[in-house]
Amino acid sequence: MSREVIRRMQYRDVGQVAAIEAAVFPRPWSRESFRREVRENAVARYLVAERDGEILGYAGAWIVIDECHITNIAVKEAWRGQGWGRRLLEALMQYAGNLGAAWADLEVRVSNERAQRLYTRAGFVSIGRRKRYYDDNGEDAFLMVCQELPAADPDFEEEPVLPEEEPADRRDGSAEIREEGEKA
Ligand SMILES: CC(C)(COP(=O)(O)OP(=O)(O)OC[C@H]1O[C@@H](n2cnc3c(N)ncnc32)[C@H](O)[C@@H]1OP(=O)(O)O)[C@@H](O)C(=O)NCCC(=O)NCCS
Repeated sequence: MSREVIRRMQYRDVGQVAAIEAAVFPRPWSRESFRREVRENAVARYLVAERDGEILGYAGAWIVIDECHITNIAVKEAWRGQGWGRRLLEALMQYAGNLGAAWADLEVRVSNERAQRLYTRAGFVSIGRRKRYYDDNGEDAFLMVCQELPAADPDFEEEPVLPEEEPADRRDGSAEIREEGEKA
């Protein structure tokens, strides 16, 4: 039986997450950006959906006091339409509620109807439009807000970020794309 889980993102996931991001978004965050999010950004929380060791998708947010600002959510193309996006979003909203956030917001391209439906079903409403928000094509964004996040789960215990390990692809000497400025 396959093993499926939604859990906190770890350093070891950064490569797979950045690869999904690069395949999905016109201005993708780099691998180094995700490493910084995991390592240095105290307000950042990222969740991954994992199935038998493969990362299928991820969702992240910056949680500041009572606000959960959703930064990105994506599911690998082959795994879309199977509820992973919904599950990741719900898990992130619960996670933010567990950490004390009371409401959430995000921007979404006006053309991205599928994502808008996902957010609407999760309780988000559009409260405004940000003109030319996306610099790749000048597209507007809808600003969407969810006024009520789930209450904190009294049994919630946050999974720590584990220390960074030497990635397996470096240990075995195989080729790897490096970030600009990143040491070999
Ligand atoms: C937006 C995104 C994250 C949604 O992920 P997803 O896993 O496809 O989402 P879900 O499967 O939970 O739901 C999406 C749709 O699939 C449907 N669905 C859910 N389970 C299903 C199943 N078992 N069989 C068929 N369809 C299903 C849902 O009803 C929903 O229907 P809709 O197309 O009418 O909205 C994904 O499309 C994606 O990665 N897009 C590119 C990145 C992106 O745009 N991110 C948002 C930036 S703001």
